Amino acid sequence: MKCYFFVMKFRLFLAPIFLIVFFSLTQCENNSEEKLYGNDCDTLNMTYSKVKFIFQNNCYSCHSANLSYRGIKTDTYEDLKAAINTNRPWGAINRFDGYLPMPNGQPKLDECLIKKIGAWINAGMPE
Ligand code: HEC
Repeated sequence: MKCYFFVMKFRLFLAPIFLIVFFSLTQCENNSEEKLYGNDCDTLNMTYSKVKFIFQNNCYSCHSANLSYRGIKTDTYEDLKAAINTNRPWGAINRFDGYLPMPNGQPKLDECLIKKIGAWINAGMPE
């Protein structure tokens, strides 16, 4: 009887630990960049036509010819290049200190999208 009790207590004690270990492992896997983006995040030969959709979906509504907060326009190739050359957009989308986090009032862009933009900038922003 005593032994049975001990086993029960031991199990009660271990259950939460197992749960914590289990969840932290699964969390770890979900956050793993490699698993999420491994070979799926295509950053090769980035051109304007391949990154345009990111700005279209996330920036146009507040940064275009119609409405351009802080003079930042993202809706044409020339304007987007000029904006990026100020270095402000890169800091803003990465949410570096000293920059307003963009897109304004929304979660940070997906890491893969940021990588695509970074690769495009590094390549000299080809059209
Ligand atoms: C919902 C509206 C909205 C969206 C969407 C949005 N912005 Fe902004 N953005 C603003 C506003 C408003 C400001 C200016 C805030 C101020 O002047 O205080 C701003 C400012 C900026 C600035 C200047 C910030 C600085 O620190 O210099 C940059 C760069 C910028 N936005 C880039 C972007 C980019 C790139 C995207 C898309 C990824 C984006 N924004 C999406 C509203 C938006």
